[in-house]
Amino acid sequence: MEVVIGPGPELGRLAANAIEHLVRAQPDAVLGLATGSSPLAVYDELARRHAEEGLTFARVRAFMLDEYVGLAADHPERYRNVIEREIASRVDFAPSAVRGPDGLADDLVLACAAYEEAIAEVGGVDLQLLGIGTDGHIAFNEPGSSLASRTRIKTLTRQTREDNARFFGGDVDQVPQHCLTQGLATIMAARHVVLLATGRGKAEAVHQLVEGPVSAMWPATILQHHPHVTVLVDDAAASRL
Ligand code: GLP
Repeated sequence: MEVVIGPGPELGRLAANAIEHLVRAQPDAVLGLATGSSPLAVYDELARRHAEEGLTFARVRAFMLDEYVGLAADHPERYRNVIEREIASRVDFAPSAVRGPDGLADDLVLACAAYEEAIAEVGGVDLQLLGIGTDGHIAFNEPGSSLASRTRIKTLTRQTREDNARFFGGDVDQVPQHCLTQGLATIMAARHVVLLATGRGKAEAVHQLVEGPVSAMWPATILQHHPHVTVLVDDAAASRL
C-alpha cells in the first residue's frame, strides 16, 4: 500500500494522472467510478483534460460501486444520475458505457448477480477509484461486511445515512435505508485501487485502513491484502498516521 500525503487539489491531479496513464496506454480500459465528495477533484481534473488536452474516454467502459435502492429514476441523488452529472456528461463516454447496479430492479438479487457477470464479461476493473466512509466503509460495505462479499443488498447504517443526509436537504429520513453495493471481494478484484480521503472526519478511518488490523469492523482494511493500492490523503485525513 502506497500512501501519499498532499493538498486536496494535488491529490485530485495524482489520481487523474493514474487514470490518464491507463487510458492512454489502454484506450478500452475499465474504470471503477465512485460517488461522494472525495472523487470530485478527480472528475474536475479529468473533465478539464478532456476539454483542453483531448483526453478521450470514447472506448473506456466504467462500472459504478453502488446505488441506493428505490430512488426514482430522475432523483438527483440516485448515484446513476450523480455519476452522469459529475463525470459522464463532461467527457466522451460512449452511450451505455457507464453501468451501475440497478436499484430499481424488480428482482434485486438477480440484479446483483447480473452486475457481477457484467464486470466479469469485460475482464474486470483496471482502476477502481474509492472514497472511504467515516466508519471505514468502502462503497457501501458497512462494518461487519464479509471480507469475501460480492455485489449484494445492504442496509445502510444510521451513521452513513446521517453522513449522507447533506445530499438530501439535511433530512436523514429522506436517505434510503437500503442499497446495492459491490462487495469487498468485488473491489479487491480490481487491478489497481486508488483511494482518496480528505478532512479530519476521515482520520480514524484512514488510521485503521493503513495501520489497523484487518477486520470486517473496518471494511477498508481488507485493502491491506491488495497488491496495488494507492492511498491519497490530505494532512487532516493523515493526522492519525
Ligand atoms: C458514500 C459512498 C461511498 C463513499 C462515502 C464517502 O457512502 N457510497 O462510496 O466513499 O460515501 O463519501 P465522501 O467522499 O463524500 O466523504
